[in-house]
Amino acid sequence: MLPFCEPYKIKMIEPLYRSSREERESWIRKARYNVFNLKSDQVFIDFLTDSGTGAMSDRQWSAILSGDESYAGSRSFHELKDTVRELTGFEYMLPTHQGRAAENVLFSVLIKEGQLVPGNAHFDTTKGHIEFRKAIAVDCTIDEAADTTKTHPFKGNLNISKIESLLEESADLVSFILITATCNTAGGQPVSMDNMRKVRNLADKYGKLLIIDAARFAENAFFIKTREEGYGDKSIKAIVLEMFSLFDGATMSAKKDGIVNIGGFIALRSKEIYQEAATYNIMFEGFLTYGGLAGRDMAALAQGLREATEFEYLKSRISQVAFLGGQMKSFGIPVQEPFGGHAVFIDALRFFPHIPREEFPGQTLVIELYKAGGIRCAEIGALMADRDPITRENRFPALELVRLAIPRRAYTNNHMEYAAAVARNVLYASENTRRGYRIISEAPIMRHFTMELEPAGL
Ligand code: F0G
Repeated sequence: MLPFCEPYKIKMIEPLYRSSREERESWIRKARYNVFNLKSDQVFIDFLTDSGTGAMSDRQWSAILSGDESYAGSRSFHELKDTVRELTGFEYMLPTHQGRAAENVLFSVLIKEGQLVPGNAHFDTTKGHIEFRKAIAVDCTIDEAADTTKTHPFKGNLNISKIESLLEESADLVSFILITATCNTAGGQPVSMDNMRKVRNLADKYGKLLIIDAARFAENAFFIKTREEGYGDKSIKAIVLEMFSLFDGATMSAKKDGIVNIGGFIALRSKEIYQEAATYNIMFEGFLTYGGLAGRDMAALAQGLREATEFEYLKSRISQVAFLGGQMKSFGIPVQEPFGGHAVFIDALRFFPHIPREEFPGQTLVIELYKAGGIRCAEIGALMADRDPITRENRFPALELVRLAIPRRAYTNNHMEYAAAVARNVLYASENTRRGYRIISEAPIMRHFTMELEPAGL
């Protein structure tokens, strides 16, 4: 059999500056050890996020030129709405400028103070929008997700008995159930169709809405096709349709599986919820047929959604992530397995076992990878988990991960080899890194974006 390769070629390139270690040490110090404060020119390989960083296709760029900028009734809006309906089966769609805007609008309708929103490791903006409304995000991910050494094909799955007992005890307080697929916070791990169906049955039993955070729905469908019994012969589009058929609505950050630089939407089955959400959309985002996006953005998104649901594309995308993970594993780097859909996650507690959690081993690894090779990645651990909204104590989640998120269609496997070699060098020198960092300033919510740090040993 011939080897698999990307179903596209490169038409345009963007040069990268390869800095020295001395330059990077000075830049990260000036950035107060927060990689969000770095200038992109100071970064060689940017694995901070796979959000809005993908390479658009020539067809998407053509759509940018032919997008319709009418305030009302834009042709590009209708193209997007039709594409969303075709893929998801949802009749109603509201464009938003990105995923968290979709959360803001939909949660304004659905969440009241004091309510509970059970789900699988909610993303931080999702949790932020829940907690901002004085409601509680209840994490019901399966226990296997917290063990990076354990292999499980669907580590994003929800613990059915946990959700059921929550519903039994406090059904009145539950606003809706949210499934994030793939589950970013648990490591880009997929949710099985079987698990979604079981949650659907529970939602029906207790009369609750089931919403999907669909940012990486196509990657989730790829895992269902390749890992779940009975789906091997189904097309990605058929699996996607079946997935969405189990939900009442979706929030979407199109910067991921829409392969656009900006964009999002809400998709809904119910006209009543749509009508309520529409009012908030007009207030927060824009008129119903553009909702915070230019016509050209909606046109590029419609095309991006079609491309993201092609099997060949998904195979090359997910194989590249696994290629990086495999390289790292061969160097003895403790990576989460199986590898996720959009990122490789390093287990920082196993990488730096001697650094106390109060000194943020995950962020320490982020800083070391940057200094060693100009690689920018993100901590998904105690800094991102923030403080408890009531006690204001630091929260230490089960996992302290460092995420190397791979932008879609942007880097080659040579970049992956380089990144793995940098991580290997950091691992070999890890004994020399005995102390982590402490916070010198932080915002009251979502602190990791703007916080400032200093070395704890000083
Ligand atoms: N839901 C999930 C699962 C996400 O991963 C994100 C964003 C959002 C919602 C919010 O979407 O950024 O368009 O407002 N994740 C990015 C990341 C930021 O780097 O993982 P947004």
